[in-house]
Amino acid sequence: MAAWPCRQPTRRSVVAGAFATTIAGASWRWPARAANAPADAFGLTAAPGKVPLVGGGHPETGVWCFSGTVPGPEIRVRQGERVEVAFHNGLDEPSTVHWHGIRLVNAMDGVPGLTQDPVAPAETFHYAFDVPDAGTFWYHPHYSSSEQVGRGLYGALIVEEPEPPAVDREVVWVIDDWRLDRAAQIDARFDNRHDMTHAGRIGNTVTINGLIPDRFAVRPGERLRLRLINVANARIFALGLAALSPRVIAIDGQPVAPHKPAGGRIVLGPAMRADVVLDIPLDARGPISIVDDFYPRNAYGLVDVVIEGAPVRDEPLDAPIALAPNPLAEPDLERAERNDVIFAGGAMGGDVTGMVNGQRMGLREMVTAHGVAWTINGVAAVAHHDGHRMEPMATFERGQSVRMALVNESRWHHPIHLHGHHFRVLSRNGREEPHRPWQDTVLVGPLETVEIAFVADNPGDWMFHCHVLEHQAAGMMAVIRVT
Ligand code: C2O
Ligand code: CU
Repeated sequence: MAAWPCRQPTRRSVVAGAFATTIAGASWRWPARAANAPADAFGLTAAPGKVPLVGGGHPETGVWCFSGTVPGPEIRVRQGERVEVAFHNGLDEPSTVHWHGIRLVNAMDGVPGLTQDPVAPAETFHYAFDVPDAGTFWYHPHYSSSEQVGRGLYGALIVEEPEPPAVDREVVWVIDDWRLDRAAQIDARFDNRHDMTHAGRIGNTVTINGLIPDRFAVRPGERLRLRLINVANARIFALGLAALSPRVIAIDGQPVAPHKPAGGRIVLGPAMRADVVLDIPLDARGPISIVDDFYPRNAYGLVDVVIEGAPVRDEPLDAPIALAPNPLAEPDLERAERNDVIFAGGAMGGDVTGMVNGQRMGLREMVTAHGVAWTINGVAAVAHHDGHRMEPMATFERGQSVRMALVNESRWHHPIHLHGHHFRVLSRNGREEPHRPWQDTVLVGPLETVEIAFVADNPGDWMFHCHVLEHQAAGMMAVIRVT
């Protein structure tokens, strides 16, 4: 694997300012009306394209993308509105669109083989669903996800609060990590054994909104709402924002009591989001480098914040920033059904055995004969791209409170994602999690146990999987049924 960050080749002075959500064409607002005529649906086409990811005289990068751009068009609606999207598949292989984090009706969840048939090349599928929660969400295919997401198929889905807190500027950063070769083209070796059995497909080029960033200009005293979305296949980010007075107001779209992140760092596993309010100090002096040091020996400066222009105000702002809660049902911890879910496998995983197609075998045979390397409760899901048809790992009655211990017996991080629900994160290794946030994806560290709780209130078969997409492809997925 190429050493990071040797090929952060040139950096560019274009980033979120130019991609603030007010830019025409980059953002699309659902008309406020109760339409359900498919003819009015927002068109979204997945197809090959070319984009100037690297810039600076390097060739354009051949990608797969939604409607010609990376990220795909931002879809922006108000809480409670209906989203209607006509998804057209212009790829040479099947695909689907999954609406990550939206608590929607099961048939619109975009999981091939489980909630719908894969959308064949040249076919169109109409997605229509209501969005109950305000927050920061995203969309991506759920077919051959490692390759389709890894080649650039993703976009932001923003659901606005009826009364958002006042800020001077809102900025969405869709952060990706690419594995590019010297000609700035995507390394085509997806789903190789090394990535599957280790940390996944960690790349060598990090982009914000489809560009290698250089500078991000702010004004003294400015208040920003930064919506961060990690769309990388495998890279975990720890963004150092301490010099910008960060306060987290939402995680995975769900409001949380406003708080300073530990150490001023925002840690985001794949698929995770954070809404962060930044108050640029009136006496700030730039440039301030936002350093990602999740992998400490490979820390690098992602983008430089430069302070420019006249102060926005002369006193620091103290207007409230807390978000109103979304309509989530509170789990009854006393009566909750308790479950342990064991995650195992991968390199250095010890004497793991797993069930593959009903047969028990050791890790070596799992890898060599079936291309899987991970188990959930002892079962490795065989990774046909559309093979999300699985016997449920657990079945819950609608309305039941569930308490789950996610036990990571492996030496690797896993961002564990449940579809169709959000869960409270209660504790890590027995220590209470500050703020007990609602999340749809939780990063579980090596040999760590994370306890979560939720109300199984959305009927259907829901994916429950690791969002390191190479781990998912290598068996780390299961289905939870709510009847
Ligand atoms: Cu981001 Cu199963 O999904
Ligand atoms: Cu994993």
